[in-house]
Amino acid sequence: MRDELRGDDEGWGSFGLGSLGLESGANDLVRWAMRWLISMRKPTRKLPDCELVACADIVEENARAFAETFGITRIYTDYREMLEKEQLDIVSICTWPHLHAQMVIDAARAGVKAIHCEKPMADTWGAAKRMAEECERLGVKLTFNHQRRFGTPFRKAKALLDEGAIGELLRIEIGFGNLYDYGSHTVDLANYFNNETPAEWVIAQID
Ligand SMILES: NC(=O)c1ccc[n+]([C@@H]2O[C@H](COP(=O)([O-])OP(=O)(O)OC[C@H]3O[C@@H](n4cnc5c(N)ncnc54)[C@H](O)[C@@H]3O)[C@@H](O)[C@H]2O)c1
Repeated sequence: MRDELRGDDEGWGSFGLGSLGLESGANDLVRWAMRWLISMRKPTRKLPDCELVACADIVEENARAFAETFGITRIYTDYREMLEKEQLDIVSICTWPHLHAQMVIDAARAGVKAIHCEKPMADTWGAAKRMAEECERLGVKLTFNHQRRFGTPFRKAKALLDEGAIGELLRIEIGFGNLYDYGSHTVDLANYFNNETPAEWVIAQID
């Protein structure tokens, strides 16, 4: 992706900067997740051609604290204003699931070239399709923060599977308490382990 996006003036913006962007008030799980996100963002500060230039949060205090941590001078409480005023190449969307689709679509229409959005993708199938279709139409790279598949234990398990060291994969069982929280990580890992083989049929129920 870096090569595709390489430019003279690469700007990176972010919106929704709650517990993922700030340490205060975060529980252990979220702190762990936050470190992932920050470790993901840190390299953007180290890349000579990539700069974290702006952030937006409806809670100004959150935006301000994030900006201080990352040395950002331009903060917004309205992400649409940020999209209008800034020339952003990449944005990271870290808000609640029901907001993802509209924010992705707005960012894509504002000319952003790559969008990294928090999981789960959206709160409905229709919203998930809309955001994917709009990015496809506009040639925008859209990715989601299912970072676990890049983690060492999961990579090791996949390598053992691929080598045949632990036999043939016949069945995957997953379980989670909340699909709209960490549940989509587990679904993503199932896809990772089965080499993204599309489902032939699905039967499902959510309480
Ligand atoms: N990948 C992971 O491991 C991981 C871990 C934790 C959370 N998440 C995901 O991150 C997302 C956010 O979760 P969280 O726990 O950080 O929530 P949070 O409540 O801590 O933070 C959300 C932030 O979004 C801001 N916000 C709300 N509406 C906004 C708007 N219209 N414009 C700009 N900012 C707005 C809020 O003020 C808040 O600061 C969720 O989709 C969650 O599933 C992912």
